[in-house]
Amino acid sequence: MNPTRISMSNRIRTFEEYQKEYSYSVAQPEEFWADKASQFVWQKKWDRVLDWNFEKGDSKWFSGAQLNITENCLDRHLPEKANQVALLWEGNDPGEASQKITYQELLNKVCQVANVLLEKGVQKGDRVCLYMPMVPELAIGVLACARIGAIHSVVFAGFSASSLADRIEDAGCKVVLTSDGAFRGNKKIAVKAVVDEALLRCPGVQSVLVLQRTGEKIAMKEGRDCWWHETVPAASANCAPVPVEAEHPLFILYTSGSTGKPKGVLHSTAGYMVYAHYSFLNVFQYDAGDIHWCTADIGWITGHSYIVYGPLLEGATSVMFEGVPTYPDAGRCWEIIDKHSVTHFYTAPTAIRSLMGFGTELFSKYQLNSLKVLGSVGEPINEEAWHWYNDHVGKKRCPIVDTWWQTETGGILISPLAGITKTKPSYATLPLPGVQPILVDAEGNELKGNNVEGNLCIKFPWPSIIRTTYGDHERCIQTYFSTYKGLYFTGDGCKRDEEGYYRILGRVDDVINVSGHRMGTAEVENAINEHPQVIESAVVGYPHDIKGQGIYAFVICEKSDKSAEALRQEITSVVSKIIGPIAKPDKIQIVSGLPKTRSGKIMRRILRKVAEGDISNLGDTSTLLDPAIVDEIKAGALVPLKA
Ligand code: WTA
Repeated sequence: MNPTRISMSNRIRTFEEYQKEYSYSVAQPEEFWADKASQFVWQKKWDRVLDWNFEKGDSKWFSGAQLNITENCLDRHLPEKANQVALLWEGNDPGEASQKITYQELLNKVCQVANVLLEKGVQKGDRVCLYMPMVPELAIGVLACARIGAIHSVVFAGFSASSLADRIEDAGCKVVLTSDGAFRGNKKIAVKAVVDEALLRCPGVQSVLVLQRTGEKIAMKEGRDCWWHETVPAASANCAPVPVEAEHPLFILYTSGSTGKPKGVLHSTAGYMVYAHYSFLNVFQYDAGDIHWCTADIGWITGHSYIVYGPLLEGATSVMFEGVPTYPDAGRCWEIIDKHSVTHFYTAPTAIRSLMGFGTELFSKYQLNSLKVLGSVGEPINEEAWHWYNDHVGKKRCPIVDTWWQTETGGILISPLAGITKTKPSYATLPLPGVQPILVDAEGNELKGNNVEGNLCIKFPWPSIIRTTYGDHERCIQTYFSTYKGLYFTGDGCKRDEEGYYRILGRVDDVINVSGHRMGTAEVENAINEHPQVIESAVVGYPHDIKGQGIYAFVICEKSDKSAEALRQEITSVVSKIIGPIAKPDKIQIVSGLPKTRSGKIMRRILRKVAEGDISNLGDTSTLLDPAIVDEIKAGALVPLKA
């Protein structure tokens, strides 16, 4: 096929167009992406589209250009969309009024916060941390940073004070945006108290802007803390967008890897903008008037790209939900879909699996006839969940887009285009234009052709590829660009079937995926080891019906009078305190030793097998220092073992 440009539009409409676009994007990537970028507002056009060198972990897009992403998210849509709803917010409590914030209002609010940040001395390039519940002010705060060229670092508000402090320190944040508290289901969470505790360790933070959400009594530190409602409404609603260079950092988002502390994945402005928009438009096939609801938290990449940036760049209406799918009951999502005529619903398999458990009677109360497209993200979706989603939510008439991507990729890389690509349960199907996946074996040899299984890499940069890990570029090279020379390594195993469709098999490194949240086993082990009686621990993932993967910890403790149950509880609360409740182990087995090789390496493969309950073939254990420990571990296993 002779690749030709199909149109100036960024929107693919048919499978043939997809195939043409794909060929064109591979044959002439620079022309392809320049074409996609041309619809945006640039203060200055680029001199070069792409410079890259994977061995140095470098990708630069649209060099020489200057722009402001908020001008493209907000100002560009005015005056036509001044009165169109940009953000549609639904609170935790169904009784609380929804908020509909138009493009004009959103721009004004963003400018007000941007002006407050400027008053607080925030300058282009400074880092600002946001630790907030899912309220409109979180999205507004993110955009306010981008308005003035400050770099936002959103930390999911479920993380502990210690995790928050690590992230604030690592990024050297100057200002923190937060709230007094948060509502989450029937719980009230003390948010500001966590910030106060974290800041004991972060002397570099000069100002804290506090939104009043729950109204509970909190401490305000003189000279550092100020109330949102006392400063923001008084600020001017005009703030000119600060032009930044194409590669100016837009945000840092911390994510777990297989070693050490979470790393700050850094995304830059122009490439991220072009790809967040392109992927949003094409994967979801968003049409004017549609209502897009991504249920993720803005504390994760999915919220960045598909609640905030992608939809706003398209001038869409994006729903933001503060609560949880099971409060006040398991019909809450369906209620919101009907209430706001949601057309696009994008959620994680964990949420689907947990709602499956409540049966289908609830559905009789809801129509769900506004829905057009369903999405899945964050972890592999099992066939049962896929069918349930398709049958009961989509009523067999809504295409499901199983979108594979990562914090590091900035946007969806492998996914069906809704209604265009033929779907297949549990397959992410085909790469988006501009994305060149390759499967390799352990030695890095390319596995050509179809019906192969290997490690998923990408061989050519796409505009929203990770730029660096904040403050440590060497770590970025080591983690993503050294395993296989000349390739970006994803950390995922993957199969390409006879049709050339991709199916993601899960992580091949020491990262586990619990309810769609990434967790490094080393990170959880380090937290467990903080318990004073813990000598050593080893953490593995195991299949969990709802969470996808659960956390199974094998722990060696000093001798004491404490019961195993008491120790387990203490260890659980230590992990919760150090990382956050999302990292709490599901199972803790107290053991007297771990299966180690003579060179002292833990044989995790054995622990994984035990945690899975499958001990039929533990493989070669002859190199173990103490093979008897395996019998002890099997005897005490906390799952039923299938021999
Ligand atoms: C996994 C979330 C299977 C994968 C956007 C990846 C998936 C990790 C899918 C990234 C999917 C994400 N099917 N697995 N559709 N989407 N994953 O950084 O293991 O939180 O490497 O980004 O989630 O998680 P992250």
